Amino acid sequence: MSRDFRVLLVCGSFQARSANRAALDVASSYIERAAHVGDEDAKGLGDIPALNMDLGDEKLDAVFGFRRQIEHSDAVLIACPEYAGAIAGGLKNALDWIVGSGELYRKPVAIISAGTGGGAYARAQLVQTLTWQGAHVLAELGIVAPKTKSNEAGQFTDPATITGIEELTRRLLDVRGMSTESRREQVRGVTDSFGIEAGHYAELDV
Ligand SMILES: Cc1cc2nc3c(=O)[nH]c(=O)nc-3n(C[C@H](O)[C@H](O)[C@H](O)COP(=O)(O)O)c2cc1C
Repeated sequence: MSRDFRVLLVCGSFQARSANRAALDVASSYIERAAHVGDEDAKGLGDIPALNMDLGDEKLDAVFGFRRQIEHSDAVLIACPEYAGAIAGGLKNALDWIVGSGELYRKPVAIISAGTGGGAYARAQLVQTLTWQGAHVLAELGIVAPKTKSNEAGQFTDPATITGIEELTRRLLDVRGMSTESRREQVRGVTDSFGIEAGHYAELDV
């Protein structure tokens, strides 16, 4: 694995004990060069203010940090809970701040949602909003009833779950050296499975 390929891990749950963060921990041990949002003196997603284009730069440290971390990454892995049938609002707000600046444009992304029902609605919405801002969602995974697959400390112990997270991570890392055509096909496989119009795909070769 190339030492230079860097994956940014983004957790949409802000609580200390989190099944989504536990999923990222499994992925992190599989990735050679991983960074979490909030590392390297950047503030975390929870510090990002509600989207308001009128806010002055002095209020946007956390936004600038998030943008910088995405920009300095070759790929992004997002794990996000579903709350009341939708993406956790803190992550959606953070992603909305990236629309105008464009750091996610053509960025390879994989997504996970761990939660009671497996986060099917959160994943559908994540694929849609990421695709609409030009990201290439290469793979996605739902983890149903994570508590039944974890130990007392909240770490995943279920072998099939761990293998599933590693497989998803491998598919994200496989973007290195992937042809434009294969990448388009893989992204289309994900967007088609959620009924997202192909017209939103950000072409690589234009
Ligand atoms: C406010 C709230 C709303 C929730 N809504 C859903 C939901 O719509 N679908 C679901 O599968 N789980 C739902 N859950 C359960 C979460 O999936 C579960 O708490 C999950 O572990 C949260 O992720 P985390 O452990 O990474 O924080 C909800 C939990 C909370 C706190």
